[in-house]
Amino acid sequence: MPSLSTPVPELLRRLVPVLALLLAVGCAEPPQIRSASSGETLTVQNGAVASTDAWSSQVGADVLVEGGNAVDAAIAVGFALAVTHPSAGNIGGGGFMVVRTPDGETTTFDFREKAPLASHPEMFLDEGGEFSAEVRHRSHISVGVPGTVAGFELAHERFGSTGWARLVEPSVQLASDGIEMTADLSNSIAGAVSRMEGRGYQASVEAFSRDGVPYEAGELWQQPDLARTLERIRDEGRDGFYRGETADLLVAEMERGGGIITHEDLEIYQAVERAPIEGTFLGYDVIGMGPPSSGGTAIVQMLNILEGFDLQAIGHNSPEYVHHVAEAMRLAFRDRAAHLADTDFAEVPLDRLTSKEYAEELRARIHPDVAGVSEVSDIELGVEAVETTHYSVIDSDGMAVAVTYTLEGGYGSHITVPGAGFLLNNEMGDFNAGPGITDESGLIGTEPNLARPEQRMLSSMSPTILARDGELVGVLGTPGGRTIINTVLQLVLNRTAFQMDPASVLQGPRFHHQWLPDRITMERDMATPELMSRLEEMGHTVETRTRQGAAHSILIDPETEARVGVPDPRIPDATAVGY
Ligand code: GLY
Repeated sequence: MPSLSTPVPELLRRLVPVLALLLAVGCAEPPQIRSASSGETLTVQNGAVASTDAWSSQVGADVLVEGGNAVDAAIAVGFALAVTHPSAGNIGGGGFMVVRTPDGETTTFDFREKAPLASHPEMFLDEGGEFSAEVRHRSHISVGVPGTVAGFELAHERFGSTGWARLVEPSVQLASDGIEMTADLSNSIAGAVSRMEGRGYQASVEAFSRDGVPYEAGELWQQPDLARTLERIRDEGRDGFYRGETADLLVAEMERGGGIITHEDLEIYQAVERAPIEGTFLGYDVIGMGPPSSGGTAIVQMLNILEGFDLQAIGHNSPEYVHHVAEAMRLAFRDRAAHLADTDFAEVPLDRLTSKEYAEELRARIHPDVAGVSEVSDIELGVEAVETTHYSVIDSDGMAVAVTYTLEGGYGSHITVPGAGFLLNNEMGDFNAGPGITDESGLIGTEPNLARPEQRMLSSMSPTILARDGELVGVLGTPGGRTIINTVLQLVLNRTAFQMDPASVLQGPRFHHQWLPDRITMERDMATPELMSRLEEMGHTVETRTRQGAAHSILIDPETEARVGVPDPRIPDATAVGY
Protein backbone atom coordinates (compact mmCIF):
# COMPACT_ATOMS: atom_id res chain seq x y z
CA MET A 1 0.00 0.00 0.00
CA PRO A 2 1.28 3.54 -0.71
CA SER A 3 2.42 5.30 2.47
CA LEU A 4 1.24 8.77 3.43
CA SER A 5 4.64 10.16 2.47
CA THR A 6 4.44 8.85 -1.11
CA PRO A 7 4.61 11.78 -3.61
CA VAL A 8 1.25 12.50 -5.26
CA PRO A 9 2.21 11.70 -8.93
CA GLU A 10 3.76 8.43 -7.79
CA LEU A 11 0.63 7.69 -5.72
CA LEU A 12 -1.56 8.25 -8.79
CA ARG A 13 0.69 6.04 -10.91
CA ARG A 14 0.41 3.24 -8.40
CA LEU A 15 -3.36 3.65 -8.05
CA VAL A 16 -4.05 3.52 -11.78
CA PRO A 17 -4.28 -0.28 -11.98
CA VAL A 18 -6.46 -0.38 -8.87
CA LEU A 19 -8.77 2.30 -10.24
CA ALA A 20 -8.89 0.58 -13.60
CA LEU A 21 -9.91 -2.66 -11.94
CA LEU A 22 -12.58 -0.96 -9.82
CA LEU A 23 -13.88 0.80 -12.90
CA ALA A 24 -13.92 -2.41 -14.87
CA VAL A 25 -15.73 -4.26 -12.12
CA GLY A 26 -18.15 -1.40 -11.62
CA CYS A 27 -18.91 -0.98 -15.29
CA ALA A 28 -18.72 -4.58 -16.40
CA GLU A 29 -21.87 -5.94 -17.87
CA PRO A 30 -23.52 -8.09 -15.21
CA PRO A 31 -23.30 -11.71 -16.31
CA GLN A 32 -26.30 -12.64 -18.36
CA ILE A 33 -28.08 -15.46 -16.56
CA ARG A 34 -30.18 -17.58 -18.85
CA SER A 35 -32.44 -20.51 -18.25
CA ALA A 36 -34.02 -23.31 -20.24
CA SER A 37 -37.13 -25.22 -19.28
CA SER A 38 -38.10 -28.79 -19.92
CA GLY A 39 -37.87 -29.51 -23.65
CA GLU A 40 -35.31 -26.74 -24.26
CA THR A 41 -31.53 -26.63 -24.10
CA LEU A 42 -29.37 -24.00 -22.44
CA THR A 43 -26.12 -22.99 -24.12
CA VAL A 44 -23.76 -20.85 -22.01
CA GLN A 45 -20.03 -20.24 -21.94
CA ASN A 46 -19.38 -20.19 -18.19
CA GLY A 47 -21.25 -22.16 -15.58
CA ALA A 48 -24.49 -24.15 -15.63
CA VAL A 49 -26.77 -26.17 -13.39
CA ALA A 50 -29.44 -28.64 -14.54
CA SER A 51 -31.92 -29.97 -12.01
CA THR A 52 -35.51 -30.98 -11.55
CA ASP A 53 -36.78 -27.45 -10.80
CA ALA A 54 -36.14 -23.78 -11.49
CA TRP A 55 -35.67 -22.70 -7.85
CA SER A 56 -32.81 -25.08 -7.22
CA SER A 57 -31.05 -24.52 -10.54
CA GLN A 58 -31.26 -20.77 -9.94
CA VAL A 59 -29.78 -21.14 -6.44
CA GLY A 60 -26.85 -23.04 -7.92
CA ALA A 61 -26.35 -20.61 -10.79
CA ASP A 62 -26.31 -17.66 -8.33
CA VAL A 63 -23.46 -19.32 -6.44
CA LEU A 64 -21.55 -19.84 -9.71
CA VAL A 65 -22.06 -16.24 -10.82
CA GLU A 66 -20.68 -15.04 -7.48
CA GLY A 67 -17.51 -17.02 -8.15
CA GLY A 68 -18.33 -20.19 -6.26
CA ASN A 69 -17.13 -23.42 -7.80
CA ALA A 70 -19.18 -26.38 -8.97
CA VAL A 71 -18.97 -28.16 -5.59
CA ASP A 72 -20.22 -25.00 -3.82
CA ALA A 73 -23.11 -24.78 -6.27
CA ALA A 74 -23.89 -28.49 -5.92
CA ILE A 75 -24.16 -28.14 -2.14
CA ALA A 76 -26.48 -25.14 -2.44
CA VAL A 77 -28.63 -26.97 -5.00
CA GLY A 78 -28.82 -30.02 -2.76
CA PHE A 79 -30.10 -27.99 0.19
CA ALA A 80 -32.56 -26.11 -2.05
CA LEU A 81 -34.01 -29.34 -3.42
CA ALA A 82 -34.59 -30.49 0.16
CA VAL A 83 -37.16 -27.68 0.28
CA THR A 84 -38.56 -27.57 -3.24
CA HIS A 85 -38.53 -31.24 -4.26
CA PRO A 86 -39.68 -33.14 -1.18
CA SER A 87 -40.24 -36.45 -2.97
CA ALA A 88 -36.47 -36.97 -3.28
CA GLY A 89 -34.51 -33.82 -2.42
CA ASN A 90 -33.48 -34.25 1.16
CA ILE A 91 -31.55 -33.76 4.32
CA GLY A 92 -33.09 -36.95 5.76
CA GLY A 93 -31.68 -39.29 3.12
CA GLY A 94 -28.39 -39.86 1.36
CA GLY A 95 -26.60 -40.18 -1.94
CA PHE A 96 -23.45 -39.76 -3.96
CA MET A 97 -21.39 -36.97 -5.52
CA VAL A 98 -18.83 -37.47 -8.32
CA VAL A 99 -16.34 -34.64 -8.89
CA ARG A 100 -13.86 -33.91 -11.69
CA THR A 101 -11.62 -30.90 -11.16
CA PRO A 102 -10.47 -28.64 -14.03
CA ASP A 103 -7.10 -30.42 -14.06
CA GLY A 104 -8.71 -33.83 -14.36
CA GLU A 105 -8.50 -35.05 -10.74
CA THR A 106 -11.49 -37.28 -9.99
CA THR A 107 -13.06 -38.31 -6.71
CA THR A 108 -16.40 -39.22 -5.16
CA PHE A 109 -18.27 -38.58 -1.93
CA ASP A 110 -20.33 -41.39 -0.45
CA PHE A 111 -23.06 -40.11 1.84
CA ARG A 112 -25.27 -43.15 1.55
CA GLU A 113 -27.36 -43.87 4.65
CA LYS A 114 -26.10 -46.48 7.10
CA ALA A 115 -27.90 -49.22 8.99
CA PRO A 116 -28.36 -48.23 12.64
CA LEU A 117 -26.28 -50.07 15.25
CA ALA A 118 -29.27 -52.19 16.29
CA SER A 119 -29.64 -53.63 12.76
CA HIS A 120 -29.16 -57.32 11.93
CA PRO A 121 -29.77 -59.54 8.89
CA GLU A 122 -33.10 -60.91 10.19
CA MET A 123 -34.53 -57.50 11.11
CA PHE A 124 -37.20 -57.57 8.38
CA LEU A 125 -38.60 -60.96 9.48
CA ASP A 126 -41.50 -61.40 11.86
CA GLU A 127 -41.53 -63.82 14.79
CA GLY A 128 -42.53 -66.67 12.49
CA GLY A 129 -39.55 -65.93 10.22
CA GLU A 130 -41.77 -64.46 7.49
CA PHE A 131 -40.39 -61.50 5.56
CA SER A 132 -42.38 -58.30 6.07
CA ALA A 133 -42.28 -55.80 3.21
CA GLU A 134 -44.17 -53.45 5.51
CA VAL A 135 -41.34 -53.40 8.07
CA ARG A 136 -38.57 -53.12 5.48
CA HIS A 137 -40.13 -50.33 3.46
CA ARG A 138 -42.99 -48.68 5.34
CA SER A 139 -42.12 -48.29 8.99
CA HIS A 140 -39.81 -46.46 11.36
CA ILE A 141 -37.48 -49.50 11.05
CA SER A 142 -37.08 -48.70 7.33
CA VAL A 143 -35.21 -45.47 8.11
CA GLY A 144 -31.44 -45.53 7.58
CA VAL A 145 -29.11 -43.08 9.35
CA PRO A 146 -29.19 -40.02 7.05
CA GLY A 147 -26.01 -38.98 5.25
CA THR A 148 -26.71 -35.89 3.15
CA VAL A 149 -25.62 -33.16 5.57
CA ALA A 150 -22.39 -34.97 6.46
CA GLY A 151 -21.70 -35.62 2.77
CA PHE A 152 -22.14 -31.99 1.78
CA GLU A 153 -19.96 -30.86 4.67
CA LEU A 154 -17.21 -33.30 3.68
CA ALA A 155 -17.32 -32.17 0.04
CA HIS A 156 -17.22 -28.56 1.25
CA GLU A 157 -14.19 -29.20 3.48
CA ARG A 158 -12.41 -30.77 0.50
CA PHE A 159 -13.35 -28.39 -2.31
CA GLY A 160 -15.50 -25.55 -1.00
CA SER A 161 -14.51 -22.00 -1.94
CA THR A 162 -17.63 -20.21 -0.71
CA GLY A 163 -18.66 -19.94 2.95
CA TRP A 164 -20.90 -22.76 4.17
CA ALA A 165 -23.57 -20.39 5.49
CA ARG A 166 -23.89 -18.73 2.07
CA LEU A 167 -24.61 -22.14 0.54
CA VAL A 168 -27.30 -23.14 3.04
CA GLU A 169 -28.96 -19.71 3.30
CA PRO A 170 -30.99 -19.92 0.03
CA SER A 171 -32.70 -23.07 1.29
CA VAL A 172 -33.57 -21.31 4.56
CA GLN A 173 -35.15 -18.51 2.51
CA LEU A 174 -37.06 -20.90 0.26
CA ALA A 175 -38.46 -22.73 3.29
CA SER A 176 -39.35 -19.64 5.33
CA ASP A 177 -40.56 -17.32 2.53
CA GLY A 178 -42.27 -20.21 0.80
CA ILE A 179 -42.57 -21.28 -2.81
CA GLU A 180 -45.48 -21.01 -5.17
CA MET A 181 -46.78 -24.48 -5.96
CA THR A 182 -46.45 -25.62 -9.55
CA ALA A 183 -49.10 -27.94 -10.95
CA ASP A 184 -46.68 -30.88 -10.97
CA LEU A 185 -45.54 -30.31 -7.38
CA SER A 186 -49.07 -29.83 -6.14
CA ASN A 187 -50.21 -33.11 -7.79
CA SER A 188 -47.26 -35.01 -6.39
CA ILE A 189 -47.74 -33.69 -2.85
CA ALA A 190 -51.50 -34.30 -2.93
CA GLY A 191 -50.83 -38.00 -3.58
CA ALA A 192 -48.27 -38.13 -0.79
CA VAL A 193 -50.59 -36.40 1.71
CA SER A 194 -53.26 -39.02 1.25
CA ARG A 195 -50.69 -41.77 1.94
CA MET A 196 -49.42 -39.83 4.98
CA GLU A 197 -52.97 -39.58 6.31
CA GLY A 198 -53.53 -43.28 5.67
CA ARG A 199 -50.46 -44.13 7.74
CA GLY A 200 -51.37 -41.73 10.53
CA TYR A 201 -48.30 -39.50 10.12
CA GLN A 202 -49.84 -36.29 11.44
CA ALA A 203 -46.65 -34.20 11.39
CA SER A 204 -46.31 -35.02 7.69
CA VAL A 205 -49.90 -34.07 6.94
CA GLU A 206 -49.33 -30.75 8.71
CA ALA A 207 -46.08 -30.06 6.86
CA PHE A 208 -47.42 -30.88 3.41
CA SER A 209 -51.00 -29.60 3.47
CA ARG A 210 -53.24 -27.01 5.07
CA ASP A 211 -55.11 -29.10 7.64
CA GLY A 212 -55.23 -32.06 5.27
CA VAL A 213 -56.24 -29.97 2.23
CA PRO A 214 -53.48 -30.10 -0.39
CA TYR A 215 -52.05 -26.80 -1.65
CA GLU A 216 -53.29 -25.93 -5.13
CA ALA A 217 -51.04 -24.80 -7.96
CA GLY A 218 -50.28 -21.11 -7.45
CA GLU A 219 -50.62 -21.22 -3.65
CA LEU A 220 -47.73 -20.27 -1.39
CA TRP A 221 -46.25 -23.20 0.58
CA GLN A 222 -44.08 -22.33 3.58
CA GLN A 223 -42.13 -24.79 5.75
CA PRO A 224 -41.21 -22.97 8.98
CA ASP A 225 -40.00 -26.05 10.89
CA LEU A 226 -37.75 -27.03 8.00
CA ALA A 227 -36.46 -23.44 7.80
CA ARG A 228 -35.39 -23.62 11.47
CA THR A 229 -33.63 -26.96 10.92
CA LEU A 230 -31.80 -25.52 7.92
CA GLU A 231 -30.83 -22.49 10.04
CA ARG A 232 -29.22 -24.84 12.55
CA ILE A 233 -27.34 -26.56 9.72
CA ARG A 234 -26.35 -23.17 8.31
CA ASP A 235 -25.00 -22.02 11.67
CA GLU A 236 -23.51 -25.23 13.08
CA GLY A 237 -22.71 -27.39 10.04
CA ARG A 238 -23.16 -31.12 10.60
CA ASP A 239 -23.66 -30.57 14.32
CA GLY A 240 -26.85 -28.70 13.45
CA PHE A 241 -28.22 -32.00 12.19
CA TYR A 242 -26.46 -34.86 13.99
CA ARG A 243 -26.45 -33.23 17.44
CA GLY A 244 -28.57 -30.87 19.51
CA GLU A 245 -32.17 -30.02 18.77
CA THR A 246 -32.44 -31.69 15.35
CA ALA A 247 -30.98 -34.94 16.65
CA ASP A 248 -33.22 -34.80 19.74
CA LEU A 249 -36.32 -34.36 17.58
CA LEU A 250 -35.31 -37.19 15.23
CA VAL A 251 -34.57 -39.62 18.05
CA ALA A 252 -37.82 -38.69 19.82
CA GLU A 253 -39.74 -39.59 16.65
CA MET A 254 -37.87 -42.90 16.44
CA GLU A 255 -38.82 -43.69 20.03
CA ARG A 256 -42.43 -42.68 19.42
CA GLY A 257 -42.79 -44.82 16.29
CA GLY A 258 -40.72 -47.90 17.19
CA GLY A 259 -37.64 -46.94 15.14
CA ILE A 260 -34.07 -47.85 16.10
CA ILE A 261 -31.93 -44.80 15.27
CA THR A 262 -30.25 -43.47 18.42
CA HIS A 263 -28.14 -40.44 19.29
CA GLU A 264 -25.09 -42.67 18.98
CA ASP A 265 -26.05 -43.64 15.39
CA LEU A 266 -26.25 -39.96 14.48
CA GLU A 267 -23.01 -39.03 16.26
CA ILE A 268 -20.95 -41.72 14.55
CA TYR A 269 -22.26 -41.24 11.02
CA GLN A 270 -19.41 -40.34 8.64
CA ALA A 271 -19.51 -39.61 4.95
CA VAL A 272 -16.55 -41.04 3.02
CA GLU A 273 -14.44 -39.80 0.14
CA ARG A 274 -13.81 -42.77 -2.17
CA ALA A 275 -12.00 -43.40 -5.43
CA PRO A 276 -14.37 -43.48 -8.38
CA ILE A 277 -14.93 -46.47 -10.63
CA GLU A 278 -13.24 -45.57 -13.90
CA GLY A 279 -13.50 -47.28 -17.26
CA THR A 280 -12.92 -46.47 -20.91
CA PHE A 281 -15.24 -46.78 -23.88
CA LEU A 282 -14.25 -45.96 -27.46
CA GLY A 283 -11.58 -43.59 -26.19
CA TYR A 284 -13.81 -41.86 -23.62
CA ASP A 285 -13.15 -41.95 -19.87
CA VAL A 286 -16.17 -42.93 -17.81
CA ILE A 287 -16.00 -41.78 -14.19
CA GLY A 288 -18.67 -43.28 -11.97
CA MET A 289 -19.68 -44.17 -8.44
CA GLY A 290 -18.27 -47.28 -6.82
CA PRO A 291 -19.83 -49.33 -4.01
CA PRO A 292 -22.04 -49.03 -2.09
CA SER A 293 -23.52 -48.04 -5.43
CA SER A 294 -23.63 -50.72 -8.06
CA GLY A 295 -24.01 -48.04 -10.75
CA GLY A 296 -20.46 -47.23 -11.85
CA THR A 297 -19.40 -50.88 -11.80
CA ALA A 298 -22.35 -52.12 -13.85
CA ILE A 299 -22.07 -49.28 -16.38
CA VAL A 300 -18.36 -49.90 -16.96
CA GLN A 301 -19.03 -53.64 -17.21
CA MET A 302 -21.77 -53.15 -19.84
CA LEU A 303 -19.71 -50.65 -21.83
CA ASN A 304 -16.81 -53.11 -21.89
CA ILE A 305 -19.13 -55.80 -23.24
CA LEU A 306 -20.65 -53.49 -25.87
CA GLU A 307 -17.30 -52.10 -27.00
CA GLY A 308 -16.74 -55.38 -28.86
CA PHE A 309 -19.80 -54.87 -31.09
CA ASP A 310 -20.07 -52.46 -34.01
CA LEU A 311 -22.98 -50.50 -32.57
CA GLN A 312 -23.04 -47.99 -35.43
CA ALA A 313 -23.51 -50.81 -37.93
CA ILE A 314 -26.13 -52.49 -35.75
CA GLY A 315 -28.07 -49.20 -35.77
CA HIS A 316 -29.36 -47.12 -32.85
CA ASN A 317 -32.51 -48.60 -31.29
CA SER A 318 -32.88 -51.21 -34.03
CA PRO A 319 -34.18 -54.60 -32.81
CA GLU A 320 -30.62 -55.96 -32.97
CA TYR A 321 -29.34 -53.00 -30.94
CA VAL A 322 -31.98 -53.41 -28.25
CA HIS A 323 -31.19 -57.13 -28.17
CA HIS A 324 -27.42 -56.69 -27.76
CA VAL A 325 -27.71 -53.94 -25.17
CA ALA A 326 -30.41 -55.82 -23.23
CA GLU A 327 -28.18 -58.92 -23.17
CA ALA A 328 -25.32 -56.84 -21.73
CA MET A 329 -27.77 -55.52 -19.11
CA ARG A 330 -28.90 -59.08 -18.28
CA LEU A 331 -25.31 -60.18 -17.63
CA ALA A 332 -24.30 -57.13 -15.62
CA PHE A 333 -27.40 -57.27 -13.42
CA ARG A 334 -26.74 -60.93 -12.68
CA ASP A 335 -23.29 -60.00 -11.39
CA ARG A 336 -24.75 -57.05 -9.51
CA ALA A 337 -27.09 -59.36 -7.60
CA ALA A 338 -24.34 -61.87 -6.93
CA HIS A 339 -21.52 -59.59 -5.84
CA LEU A 340 -22.30 -55.91 -5.27
CA ALA A 341 -22.55 -54.48 -1.77
CA ASP A 342 -20.82 -52.07 0.60
CA THR A 343 -17.10 -52.85 0.25
CA ASP A 344 -16.53 -51.86 3.88
CA PHE A 345 -18.35 -55.13 4.71
CA ALA A 346 -18.19 -57.43 1.67
CA GLU A 347 -15.49 -58.65 -0.71
CA VAL A 348 -16.50 -57.34 -4.13
CA PRO A 349 -14.38 -58.43 -7.14
CA LEU A 350 -14.38 -54.93 -8.64
CA ASP A 351 -11.22 -55.37 -10.71
CA ARG A 352 -12.58 -58.45 -12.42
CA LEU A 353 -16.10 -57.07 -12.93
CA THR A 354 -14.75 -53.95 -14.64
CA SER A 355 -11.99 -55.64 -16.68
CA LYS A 356 -11.94 -55.86 -20.46
CA GLU A 357 -10.95 -59.57 -20.20
CA TYR A 358 -14.03 -60.49 -18.19
CA ALA A 359 -16.19 -58.47 -20.59
CA GLU A 360 -14.82 -60.57 -23.45
CA GLU A 361 -15.98 -63.75 -21.68
CA LEU A 362 -19.42 -62.28 -21.14
CA ARG A 363 -19.65 -60.98 -24.72
CA ALA A 364 -19.07 -64.49 -26.01
CA ARG A 365 -22.26 -65.57 -24.26
CA ILE A 366 -24.41 -63.16 -26.28
CA HIS A 367 -26.05 -64.82 -29.29
CA PRO A 368 -26.52 -62.48 -32.26
CA ASP A 369 -30.28 -62.95 -32.41
CA VAL A 370 -31.45 -65.27 -29.65
CA ALA A 371 -32.36 -63.95 -26.23
CA GLY A 372 -30.44 -65.37 -23.27
CA VAL A 373 -32.25 -66.93 -20.35
CA SER A 374 -32.14 -65.58 -16.81
CA GLU A 375 -32.24 -68.85 -14.97
CA VAL A 376 -34.09 -68.72 -11.70
CA SER A 377 -31.42 -69.47 -9.17
CA ASP A 378 -30.70 -68.23 -5.71
CA ILE A 379 -30.13 -64.79 -7.20
CA GLU A 380 -33.25 -62.72 -7.46
CA LEU A 381 -34.04 -59.06 -7.36
CA GLY A 382 -36.56 -57.26 -5.20
CA VAL A 383 -38.47 -54.08 -5.77
CA GLU A 384 -36.45 -50.88 -5.79
CA ALA A 385 -38.24 -47.57 -5.74
CA VAL A 386 -37.81 -45.18 -8.65
CA GLU A 387 -37.99 -41.86 -6.79
CA THR A 388 -34.61 -40.22 -6.51
CA THR A 389 -33.25 -37.03 -8.05
CA HIS A 390 -30.17 -36.15 -10.05
CA TYR A 391 -28.55 -32.80 -10.84
CA SER A 392 -25.48 -31.71 -12.77
CA VAL A 393 -23.16 -28.71 -12.37
CA ILE A 394 -20.24 -27.36 -14.40
CA ASP A 395 -18.47 -24.14 -13.45
CA SER A 396 -16.56 -21.60 -15.55
CA ASP A 397 -13.22 -23.33 -14.86
CA GLY A 398 -14.57 -26.67 -16.00
CA MET A 399 -15.00 -28.27 -12.58
CA ALA A 400 -17.79 -30.83 -12.98
CA VAL A 401 -20.08 -32.32 -10.34
CA ALA A 402 -22.72 -35.03 -10.64
CA VAL A 403 -25.02 -35.59 -7.67
CA THR A 404 -27.72 -38.23 -7.29
CA TYR A 405 -29.43 -38.44 -3.89
CA THR A 406 -32.60 -39.91 -2.55
CA LEU A 407 -35.05 -40.77 0.20
CA GLU A 408 -35.53 -44.18 -1.58
CA GLY A 409 -39.31 -44.19 -2.22
CA GLY A 410 -41.03 -40.97 -3.26
CA TYR A 411 -41.29 -38.99 0.04
CA GLY A 412 -39.21 -41.78 1.63
CA SER A 413 -40.84 -43.28 4.70
CA HIS A 414 -43.43 -40.46 4.57
CA ILE A 415 -42.42 -39.75 8.18
CA THR A 416 -41.70 -36.07 8.89
CA VAL A 417 -39.69 -35.38 12.05
CA PRO A 418 -42.16 -33.38 14.18
CA GLY A 419 -40.81 -29.91 14.89
CA ALA A 420 -37.95 -30.34 12.41
CA GLY A 421 -39.98 -30.41 9.20
CA PHE A 422 -37.95 -32.86 7.13
CA LEU A 423 -38.82 -36.26 5.75
CA LEU A 424 -36.97 -39.43 6.70
CA ASN A 425 -35.83 -41.96 4.13
CA ASN A 426 -36.93 -45.60 3.87
CA GLU A 427 -33.57 -46.66 2.48
CA MET A 428 -33.30 -49.82 4.63
CA GLY A 429 -35.53 -51.27 1.90
CA ASP A 430 -32.45 -51.43 -0.33
CA PHE A 431 -30.96 -54.17 1.87
CA ASN A 432 -31.73 -57.78 1.00
CA ALA A 433 -34.80 -59.30 2.63
CA GLY A 434 -33.07 -61.77 4.90
CA PRO A 435 -30.54 -64.63 4.83
CA GLY A 436 -31.39 -67.20 2.15
CA ILE A 437 -34.77 -65.66 1.43
CA THR A 438 -35.50 -66.03 -2.24
CA ASP A 439 -38.86 -66.38 -3.89
CA GLU A 440 -40.69 -65.98 -7.15
CA SER A 441 -41.85 -62.48 -6.23
CA GLY A 442 -38.27 -61.31 -6.59
CA LEU A 443 -36.91 -61.27 -3.06
CA ILE A 444 -33.20 -61.73 -2.69
CA GLY A 445 -31.33 -63.35 0.16
CA THR A 446 -27.67 -63.24 -0.90
CA GLU A 447 -25.16 -62.51 1.82
CA PRO A 448 -23.26 -59.40 0.72
CA ASN A 449 -26.15 -56.94 0.95
CA LEU A 450 -27.80 -58.08 4.18
CA ALA A 451 -28.44 -55.45 6.89
CA ARG A 452 -25.65 -55.22 9.45
CA PRO A 453 -24.77 -52.45 11.93
CA GLU A 454 -23.27 -49.49 10.06
CA GLN A 455 -23.37 -51.21 6.64
CA ARG A 456 -24.57 -49.10 3.72
CA MET A 457 -27.35 -50.59 1.61
CA LEU A 458 -26.66 -51.31 -2.06
CA SER A 459 -27.71 -48.56 -4.46
CA SER A 460 -28.20 -48.16 -8.19
CA MET A 461 -27.50 -44.43 -8.23
CA SER A 462 -25.07 -43.57 -11.00
CA PRO A 463 -23.84 -39.99 -11.07
CA THR A 464 -21.38 -40.07 -13.97
CA ILE A 465 -18.83 -37.80 -15.62
CA LEU A 466 -17.46 -38.31 -19.13
CA ALA A 467 -14.09 -37.04 -20.36
CA ARG A 468 -11.88 -37.59 -23.39
CA ASP A 469 -8.20 -36.82 -23.93
CA GLY A 470 -8.11 -34.85 -20.70
CA GLU A 471 -11.12 -32.71 -21.63
CA LEU A 472 -14.50 -32.74 -19.93
CA VAL A 473 -17.30 -34.17 -22.11
CA GLY A 474 -20.32 -34.06 -19.82
CA VAL A 475 -22.10 -34.70 -16.54
CA LEU A 476 -24.88 -37.29 -16.50
CA GLY A 477 -27.24 -39.10 -14.13
CA THR A 478 -30.87 -39.87 -13.41
CA PRO A 479 -33.30 -41.26 -10.85
CA GLY A 480 -35.21 -44.48 -11.52
CA GLY A 481 -34.29 -47.32 -9.13
CA ARG A 482 -32.50 -50.04 -11.06
CA THR A 483 -33.36 -48.35 -14.36
CA ILE A 484 -30.86 -45.65 -13.33
CA ILE A 485 -27.97 -47.83 -14.41
CA ASN A 486 -29.46 -48.57 -17.81
CA THR A 487 -30.61 -45.00 -18.46
CA VAL A 488 -27.11 -43.69 -17.82
CA LEU A 489 -25.67 -46.46 -19.99
CA GLN A 490 -27.88 -45.29 -22.87
CA LEU A 491 -26.97 -41.63 -22.34
CA VAL A 492 -23.29 -42.58 -22.57
CA LEU A 493 -23.90 -44.69 -25.69
CA ASN A 494 -25.92 -41.91 -27.33
CA ARG A 495 -23.14 -39.40 -26.78
CA THR A 496 -20.11 -41.59 -27.49
CA ALA A 497 -21.01 -44.38 -29.93
CA PHE A 498 -23.55 -42.27 -31.85
CA GLN A 499 -22.14 -38.75 -31.35
CA MET A 500 -25.64 -37.38 -30.76
CA ASP A 501 -26.16 -33.69 -30.02
CA PRO A 502 -27.03 -32.93 -26.38
CA ALA A 503 -30.80 -32.65 -26.89
CA SER A 504 -30.92 -35.98 -28.73
CA VAL A 505 -28.80 -37.66 -26.05
CA LEU A 506 -31.57 -36.89 -23.56
CA GLN A 507 -34.59 -37.23 -25.82
CA GLY A 508 -33.74 -40.68 -27.13
CA PRO A 509 -36.22 -43.30 -25.88
CA ARG A 510 -34.95 -45.73 -23.24
CA PHE A 511 -35.29 -49.38 -22.33
CA HIS A 512 -34.33 -51.60 -19.42
CA HIS A 513 -33.48 -55.20 -18.54
CA GLN A 514 -32.39 -56.24 -15.04
CA TRP A 515 -31.78 -60.01 -15.29
CA LEU A 516 -34.88 -60.85 -13.32
CA PRO A 517 -37.72 -60.50 -14.03
CA ASP A 518 -36.56 -61.68 -17.47
CA ARG A 519 -38.09 -58.99 -19.67
CA ILE A 520 -37.31 -55.80 -21.52
CA THR A 521 -39.33 -52.76 -20.53
CA MET A 522 -39.28 -49.84 -22.96
CA GLU A 523 -40.71 -46.37 -23.18
CA ARG A 524 -43.93 -46.34 -25.16
CA ASP A 525 -42.54 -43.89 -27.72
CA MET A 526 -40.10 -46.48 -29.02
CA ALA A 527 -42.33 -49.56 -28.79
CA THR A 528 -43.38 -49.89 -32.43
CA PRO A 529 -45.18 -53.11 -33.39
CA GLU A 530 -42.24 -54.03 -35.67
CA LEU A 531 -39.67 -53.60 -32.90
CA MET A 532 -41.77 -55.50 -30.36
CA SER A 533 -42.48 -58.42 -32.67
CA ARG A 534 -38.85 -58.77 -33.86
CA LEU A 535 -37.65 -58.82 -30.24
CA GLU A 536 -40.33 -61.37 -29.36
CA GLU A 537 -39.17 -63.53 -32.28
CA MET A 538 -35.70 -63.48 -30.71
CA GLY A 539 -37.23 -64.79 -27.49
CA HIS A 540 -37.56 -61.58 -25.46
CA THR A 541 -40.57 -60.64 -23.41
CA VAL A 542 -41.27 -56.94 -23.96
CA GLU A 543 -43.37 -54.58 -21.87
CA THR A 544 -43.90 -50.84 -22.12
CA ARG A 545 -43.83 -47.98 -19.63
CA THR A 546 -44.60 -44.27 -19.90
CA ARG A 547 -41.17 -42.95 -19.03
CA GLN A 548 -37.78 -44.02 -17.76
CA GLY A 549 -35.67 -41.54 -15.81
CA ALA A 550 -35.24 -37.79 -15.35
CA ALA A 551 -31.67 -37.24 -16.49
CA HIS A 552 -30.90 -33.55 -16.01
CA SER A 553 -27.49 -33.36 -17.65
CA ILE A 554 -24.91 -30.95 -19.03
CA LEU A 555 -22.74 -31.72 -22.04
CA ILE A 556 -19.80 -29.76 -23.40
CA ASP A 557 -19.90 -28.60 -27.02
CA PRO A 558 -16.49 -29.86 -28.21
CA GLU A 559 -16.04 -26.99 -30.69
CA THR A 560 -17.00 -23.98 -28.57
CA GLU A 561 -16.56 -25.50 -25.07
CA ALA A 562 -20.03 -24.15 -24.31
CA ARG A 563 -21.92 -25.87 -21.51
CA VAL A 564 -25.15 -27.27 -22.93
CA GLY A 565 -27.64 -27.88 -20.14
CA VAL A 566 -30.46 -30.27 -20.93
CA PRO A 567 -33.27 -30.58 -18.40
CA ASP A 568 -34.86 -33.93 -19.17
CA PRO A 569 -37.92 -33.23 -21.35
CA ARG A 570 -39.81 -35.92 -19.45
CA ILE A 571 -40.08 -33.67 -16.35
CA PRO A 572 -42.32 -30.60 -16.66
CA ASP A 573 -40.58 -28.40 -14.04
CA ALA A 574 -37.00 -29.38 -14.95
CA THR A 575 -34.79 -26.37 -15.63
CA ALA A 576 -31.21 -25.55 -16.52
CA VAL A 577 -29.79 -22.16 -15.47
CA GLY A 578 -26.40 -20.74 -16.34
CA TYR A 579 -24.41 -17.76 -17.57
N1 GLY B 1 -32.91 -46.05 -3.50
C1 GLY B 1 -32.50 -45.97 -4.84
C2 GLY B 1 -31.06 -46.27 -5.02
O1 GLY B 1 -30.30 -46.11 -4.09
O2 GLY B 1 -30.64 -46.67 -6.06
